Amino acid sequence: MTWDIRDKQVVLTGGNTGIGKATAEELCRRGARVVITARDAAKGDAAVASIRATVPGAVIDWRPLDLTSRASIEGCAATLLEELEAIDVLVHNAGLILSDRREAEPGVEATFMINHLGPFLLTRLLERRLIESAPARVVVVASAAHRRARGGLDFEDLQATRRYSGELVYSRSKLANILFTNELARRLEGTGVTANSLHPGVVATNFTGDGDATGLWRFFFRFLRPFLKTPDQGARTSVHVACEPSIVGVSGAYFSDSKRATPSAFARDEDAARRLWAASEALLDG
Ligand SMILES: NC(=O)c1ccc[n+]([C@@H]2O[C@H](COP(=O)([O-])OP(=O)(O)OC[C@H]3O[C@@H](n4cnc5c(N)ncnc54)[C@H](OP(=O)(O)O)[C@@H]3O)[C@@H](O)[C@H]2O)c1
Repeated sequence: MTWDIRDKQVVLTGGNTGIGKATAEELCRRGARVVITARDAAKGDAAVASIRATVPGAVIDWRPLDLTSRASIEGCAATLLEELEAIDVLVHNAGLILSDRREAEPGVEATFMINHLGPFLLTRLLERRLIESAPARVVVVASAAHRRARGGLDFEDLQATRRYSGELVYSRSKLANILFTNELARRLEGTGVTANSLHPGVVATNFTGDGDATGLWRFFFRFLRPFLKTPDQGARTSVHVACEPSIVGVSGAYFSDSKRATPSAFARDEDAARRLWAASEALLDG
């Protein structure tokens, strides 16, 4: 089986800025057709205009998606299924850290929803089209921050109702990204659709901006900006996992600096991956 990103149809969430926009731009440069999502129309328009101006002939558009809203996720999936005959690559890139506990849907904590449950639902809604498009790839932007989720996921309190720490909840959501990817890879075995996760590096983006995070994280991202990766550098591992022909058939792997890496022991826990999948389904069914 071979893999060439040219003319492949990519869907990439959170593509209006940061790592996502840089990834979308590079994928356009390499000849992919790209649909990014944005939660704000002006930002979606601006990102598409900017990429079209930078990459002559770029085939790119945007569609609305707010991962805090189940209706928005279902609406976005319906639009994509109507408009795209094939989905060859699905990149889950959108994500954030929140300093205060908020609920997205009743009973569902916002970081968990935006970083894990929303991407889980979107994948399930697009799964059939991905399989029909095989060979296809699901790429999940996780983070080395998953290592800070010491003790793993708290299945007794996935919605962080007892105690809320933005950093811990974010780290757990990134651990959830890897567990989800691994279980997805297991379930998609034999379909020709692979699923891999990655750490993009520490990247100077809007991450922790918009008043989303306070304290150390905000300080870290604001004052160490000159020493961090640029968004273009931060996009490299996402681009690698989406484009690289030599990883055809590789699934359930974790990448960092465009190389295979070993995530934490908690991220490799197959029981936890199955349990998270069941809990996510139950939340959506309940
Ligand atoms: N920056 C780093 O050092 C770093 C390190 C490890 C992992 N990551 C991961 O990399 C990914 C991209 O982050 P970034 O650094 O590029 O951050 P960013 O510049 O803040 O971009 C995040 C993207 O996610 C979108 N988003 C946020 N909330 C959303 C929602 N409710 N619904 C839909 N989209 C939403 C944002 O849209 P708006 O523009 O409308 O807010 C934006 O497009 C995230 O998953 C993050 O966890 C980043």
